[in-house]
Amino acid sequence: MPSKSSSNAAVDAPSAVRVEITLNGRKTTVAAGTTILEAARMNGLHIPTLCWLEKLQPIGACRVCAVEVEGVDSPVMSCVTPVAEGMNVKTKSEELNKYRADMIRFILVNHPLDCPVCERSGECHLQNLTYTFGIKEHVWKTAKYEKIPVKDWGLIRYDKNLCILCERCIKICREVQGVAAYQIDGNGFDSRVNTVTGEKLDCDFCGQCISICPVGALSSGIIFAARSWDMIKMKTVCPHCGVGCSFHLNIKKGIKVNAEGRIIRVTSDDAIGHNNGNLCVRGRFGYEFTHSVDRLATPLIRDGENHVAADWETALDLIAQKLSGYRSSHGNNAFGAIGSERATNEDNYVFGKFFREVLGSGDIDSMVNMLSPHTASGLFEVFGDFPMTCSIGKFRSANLFVFIGSNGSSENPVLSNHIRWAMMDHGAEAAAAFSRDAVFEPAPRIQLPYDYAAMHEFLISLLSGTVESINKDGAIIENSVPITDDWRAKLKEAASDARRKVDESLNLKIAEFIKLIRKQGSPVYIVGSEAQRHPSGKAIIRNIVNLAKLTGGSVMLTREYCNSRGAIDMGLAPDILPGCVPETRNELKSRGSLLSLMEEGKIKALIIADEDPLRRHPDRERFSTAMQKVEFVVVTDQFYSLTCREADVILPTTVSAEKSGSFTNLEGRIQRFDAVVKPPGKSRSVLEIFGELARRMGGDFQYENSGDVTAEISDKVTIYGQIGEDGGFADYSPLVNADSSLRWEEPAPIKNFFKGSTFLLLPDSTIFELSPYTDYCPTMREKLGLQGMDFTKGSKPPVCFNPADAEKMSLSEGDAVAFKNGGGKWEGVVRISMGVRSGSIRIPDDKNRFPRIKLVANGTEFDCINTEGLRR
Ligand code: FES
Repeated sequence: MPSKSSSNAAVDAPSAVRVEITLNGRKTTVAAGTTILEAARMNGLHIPTLCWLEKLQPIGACRVCAVEVEGVDSPVMSCVTPVAEGMNVKTKSEELNKYRADMIRFILVNHPLDCPVCERSGECHLQNLTYTFGIKEHVWKTAKYEKIPVKDWGLIRYDKNLCILCERCIKICREVQGVAAYQIDGNGFDSRVNTVTGEKLDCDFCGQCISICPVGALSSGIIFAARSWDMIKMKTVCPHCGVGCSFHLNIKKGIKVNAEGRIIRVTSDDAIGHNNGNLCVRGRFGYEFTHSVDRLATPLIRDGENHVAADWETALDLIAQKLSGYRSSHGNNAFGAIGSERATNEDNYVFGKFFREVLGSGDIDSMVNMLSPHTASGLFEVFGDFPMTCSIGKFRSANLFVFIGSNGSSENPVLSNHIRWAMMDHGAEAAAAFSRDAVFEPAPRIQLPYDYAAMHEFLISLLSGTVESINKDGAIIENSVPITDDWRAKLKEAASDARRKVDESLNLKIAEFIKLIRKQGSPVYIVGSEAQRHPSGKAIIRNIVNLAKLTGGSVMLTREYCNSRGAIDMGLAPDILPGCVPETRNELKSRGSLLSLMEEGKIKALIIADEDPLRRHPDRERFSTAMQKVEFVVVTDQFYSLTCREADVILPTTVSAEKSGSFTNLEGRIQRFDAVVKPPGKSRSVLEIFGELARRMGGDFQYENSGDVTAEISDKVTIYGQIGEDGGFADYSPLVNADSSLRWEEPAPIKNFFKGSTFLLLPDSTIFELSPYTDYCPTMREKLGLQGMDFTKGSKPPVCFNPADAEKMSLSEGDAVAFKNGGGKWEGVVRISMGVRSGSIRIPDDKNRFPRIKLVANGTEFDCINTEGLRR
């Protein structure tokens, strides 16, 4: 069987050996290794296929792609047969038509013609081929036919009766997802696809198997209740994480788009976006929130303990009047603002412009900047000459991928698909450094599980080992930057201290890892939230950049939300303006952290656009207490969030499917999208709301639509100067510092917390959750058996212990434990895992919002501290 990767490489390489063949009487040359099917396609000739899929290794199961090759007696499967010099191929003839039709008839022996009641009718490949070849009835029948019950695997259903055993699902799960959740069980008539365990499917539910099933055998567990011809497919960008995958929202036709349509499902398309049809569970199944019954639909104004509905005129008049009043009584600095990683670039641009130009204030921020200023507004200071040297395009040629401070595929799942492509294509390798074994399939070559509290020391050991290796064998690659004596001396001193804090076994793995870099060369470092948000984050990020400089590597930062990167680029931080240009106006320069200003009572009015800091801030109590000092709070959101509950005015906003605009993904790709459904009730976009408020307060905001804002961004924001119809790339090069030398950063000290029985609480993020949208996808949550993550709803999430710690506390799997502090109490269920380091406990990210909290286990209390609590 030819290798897909090698054949592709052969087609592309200009210097590859070429062979001459004849296709339907016409001579042509193609690269050696090309299959007959690929050669035909390159020459504009159509050969029908059924089991073949471009992004998978061909299997040759269906025999529909048969062609005639001169000198060969029987038809040849073109998808698995490489060309050979002088080969004479016929792709169409009466005989071939008959042969192909017979192959389809064979498949139909075991495939009922249930098309009228099949979900896939109208988009079924077998149905199309049956029609194309004019097959009107079952010619051959099986002696044995009994209907087999459909398997319910949660989000995925398997109907064996419709399965044609093409094995696409098995191959995509192995080759593209690296998981191998499926296999073929049984022989002959009894063959069927099954899970490898024989039990219910237990996987990441990416749904790739559904997307490539050519018939209706694998389908979504979310019944979408629409025929294919009742839907229109509208291209959009995923509203969840920062990878920015493209897909189609399938809208059940109403009267017209933007009027009556409802999103019925998501389908992927290999031809759009960078993701080649690959999606994760959130992208494929996490769409129900758009039409959630819990969506806010009208402005709400506080009335005592409650919020009551109001019309837009009343709400906007009240806000304008209050803000004008504070400006008169307390001046421009009486305001604070928090923008959104979920809102569009256009939303955030107008929001920031309203705040800085109309209110004349500078204390604006975003959660992405509050959680990790070193990779947000401080990016250019920390990275120096190195910001975002890696793009997804560069993954194509990389040979080594290293997750650092990232839980592998959990953070930005589809990045892993690009990595696996490189592994399949040219033997790239993966390694992972995280505070436990990171999630990545297939298992990384090396896992480097460090102690979270000693993450900086781990980085120092890694750098020290790299420098020793360079001293011994010379530069790791030619582009390694020179090591100055001063930097070397500082590293040496830090390394002697670090050695004591890093396990010996980890030091051995570090040596192995450096050998891997020497073998594979130029790593791509994928730097996750654990590194970006660590209390010593600045020094950690700087040392990852140093490591990349020493090893000729490049760096990609994970981004949690769909527009985390765009929020920074649009200036949602106190010290930068749109385009990451430093704020130089003295009157608008930051006066300290927004939270401190709130605590000091200096912020009289706080405006929060599509963000929920009471849910996301790592010190929820501190933020909540600080909010009590603010006199007037305006919050925009799609749902009645924790922060909404504290607001004086709540304004309902649209989600991405209901508006036009752009998101910027983690590599800087600016992707535009349009509204495809109507928003609920009276919801408006952030840009509409703050454009209108600006006009009421004397600002000259003359935007008719988001396109006008895009044009202004393109005109005024240098790094966004290339936005065209289809978007473009944010160009950071004008901001890059010319200094490429290694730079030293002393780490911020962290608390020596491990005294007595104190435990460190670490967040346990899962691929299935990304608040708040996934909270409001009820079928997905129910099918996956997910706990509700809303802190206020008293659900019982998993609390994961190391086995030794659990034993010391006499805890067994399934026991109940509780966490309590002055602000309340929540209960969880004990899970025991070797992956959790002794001294730490893993709890869901949303629960991990208290720097200090007590664990109550079997009647005994234990002190716990979260990562925020490590800051001195
Ligand atoms: Fe070639 Fe199925 S497409 S054998």
